[in-house]
Amino acid sequence: DKDEDLKSRPPVVTIMGHVDHGKTSILDAIRNARVVAGEAGGITQHIGAYQVTTKDGALLSFLDTPGHAAFTSMRSRGADVTDIVILVVAADDAVMPQTIEAINHAKAANVPMIVAINKIDRPGANPTKVRTDLLQHEVIVEEMSGEVQDVEVSAITGQGLDQLLEAIALQAEILELKANPDRAAQGAVIEAQLDVGRGPVATVLVQNGTLRQGDIFVVGEQYGKVRALINDKGERIKEAGPSVPVEVLGLNGTPEAGDVLNVTETEAQAREIAEYRAQ
Ligand code: GTP
Ligand code: NA
Ligand code: MG
Repeated sequence: DKDEDLKSRPPVVTIMGHVDHGKTSILDAIRNARVVAGEAGGITQHIGAYQVTTKDGALLSFLDTPGHAAFTSMRSRGADVTDIVILVVAADDAVMPQTIEAINHAKAANVPMIVAINKIDRPGANPTKVRTDLLQHEVIVEEMSGEVQDVEVSAITGQGLDQLLEAIALQAEILELKANPDRAAQGAVIEAQLDVGRGPVATVLVQNGTLRQGDIFVVGEQYGKVRALINDKGERIKEAGPSVPVEVLGLNGTPEAGDVLNVTETEAQAREIAEYRAQ
């Protein structure tokens, strides 16, 4: 629709890479949080979705993905909803199987990558090996006269994290990301589960429009009416605009990760579409 009033929206940034290369630690350091410390075995089991405001006031949305081989499909979905992939490679370990898998997801989704060479504080850190390993997978970083931004970072000391945020902001500027916050909401399910106390809960990334409490929606083979929206800080919010990840309560059933959410005019419409899809 040419008459749509498009406004700029925050980039959706997905952090990918091999298991234990420091994806969650980098995000923790950026958010000033301690998610890793609370994870069972220090292993991420689900996709975390967060918003961060930088020192310059820029808003960024982040998706954290698990590094297990078993989570391939989840990671590929992460690449599909994202604008920018941060490829985390530990400087003391270099390119590993899930690094390659993440590269392939990013390339297949045609999403620009930024390489974060992490654990640069480690005695065995060898950033040159990371860069030459990446060359073999046709990822040519700026240090190697290529076009992929690369930043040396440490999630532990904080080294390079400001440069990483600058690299994201630069990439986002190039992409000129836009959405229309005034239309009916459309989003994608990042993850969903049946919660004992709260019923089916879906983490939805709003991609266009604004999702509001009371909105009626269809999502995959499920439908519902937004009973509550909860942001990444656990606070109830009234609405979520483009690029905002939000927990949605009020579903009749549990959707699948990757399902698309669309707000409809009436509950009859939502139910009809959901039932048609479920046939
Ligand atoms: P999965 O989600 O399980 O794939 O792991 P991840 O990539 O999220 O890695 P995580 O953040 O859990 O970090 C793995 C381990 O590396 C933890 O013990 C971290 O403390 C450590 N670590 C992460 N970043 C750094 C870093 O920059 N320097 C050092 N020295 N250790 C780090
Ligand atoms: Na880990
Ligand atoms: Mg993790």
